Amino acid sequence: MDARPLEFTHQRFGMVVRDMEQNRLLDVRDLTVHFHASDGIVNAVNGVTFHIDDGETLAVVGESGSGKSVTSLAIMGLVPNPPGVIAGGSILFRGKDHTERDLLTLPESALRRVRGNDIAMVFQEPISSLSPVYTVGDQIAEAIVLHQHKTRREALRLAADMLARLGISEPRKRLRNYPHQISGGMAQRVMIAMALSCHPSLLIADEPTTALDVTIQAQLLELIAELRREIGMAVLFITHDLGVAAEVADRILVMYAGRVVEVGSARQIFHEPRMPYTIGLLRSVPRLVTGDGPLGHLDAIPGEMPNPRNLPRGCSFFPRCSHAVKGVCDIAVPELEESEPGHWVRCVRWREVAAEGETS
Ligand SMILES: Nc1ncnc2c1ncn2[C@@H]1O[C@H](COP(=O)(O)OP(=O)(O)OP(=O)(O)O)[C@@H](O)[C@H]1O
Ligand code: SF4
Ligand SMILES: [Mg+2]
Repeated sequence: MDARPLEFTHQRFGMVVRDMEQNRLLDVRDLTVHFHASDGIVNAVNGVTFHIDDGETLAVVGESGSGKSVTSLAIMGLVPNPPGVIAGGSILFRGKDHTERDLLTLPESALRRVRGNDIAMVFQEPISSLSPVYTVGDQIAEAIVLHQHKTRREALRLAADMLARLGISEPRKRLRNYPHQISGGMAQRVMIAMALSCHPSLLIADEPTTALDVTIQAQLLELIAELRREIGMAVLFITHDLGVAAEVADRILVMYAGRVVEVGSARQIFHEPRMPYTIGLLRSVPRLVTGDGPLGHLDAIPGEMPNPRNLPRGCSFFPRCSHAVKGVCDIAVPELEESEPGHWVRCVRWREVAAEGETS
């Protein structure tokens, strides 16, 4: 995606000899993930390339099944195998110890340390990773003692403070509860508190607000924003909600059928979208459409995403695209092209699409 050559030299155990760019925290290149299902190979993630810099928030948007969660699971080393296979690519990450590693070649023990110290994830499915035999307070405090080197007493105070910031009333009392004594929404907030308490340099949040009501959502986004300021945390924020993406993101990455189809600053994506799929996605969101803005009227994208077991030969969006031209778009998968600095588009007709946007 950027012009830097792909010539990293690797030692054993994922240590990277050559430096990444100075403020680059995560550099995902050509990530490819397949699932060997009984009815064929699911091409879930097909050559995904993107980066996140220190302290930056990147929102990943795209329809259900576009590969957002699988991409984040691959970063965490948590793609279930079998049936999942990492078929290619690299995931370079710079740890708190300033060492760059390829997470795809790291042994499990080292990866576990990265997961605990450097990268934290809030999962889409809040399958309780809370232990039933310890109180909520014990579990959050343990994470704080371990990662922030506080005493247990101080850790419990910080845990109560974090729960209060996430809108939990009587947080001291809650800390004495066991997981079965709290609601699902509260369990999710406890897991968010645990993830944030290790002060990660990267937080991966996969649809963290979907199970929460609007007020709690707002509190969570505010807490994430505060931690970004306090500890310079970067965030990979996966969401269906373009309104949330507009609120939190510095840059936005749009995925379709396991590929990056457009990426750019929030301004570029919201005001100058170039890829017809992104334009369709923006047009389908009521509160982003003003009626007289560049996106015109509210409209759902017709049709469905192609079956990942059998992707079309050319542009994956071809069957649904109102700008598609037979013999042009359906020949080969379009490359990502830089349409302006920092703004990348996977569409062979982006110039025509842009020109139409300006005249409509
Ligand atoms: N364990 C699995 N076995 C087989 N296929 C899988 C598995 N996990 C994910 N997939 C497939 O990989 C593709 C990408 O799934 P993924 O969960 O990343 O989508 P997503 O963009 O996160 O969607 P959503 O918005 O619904 O969360 C989908 O086609 C999905 O069915
Ligand atoms: S390459 Fe063609 S089919 Fe694909 S998004 Fe662009 S115009 Fe549409
Ligand atoms: Mg998902």
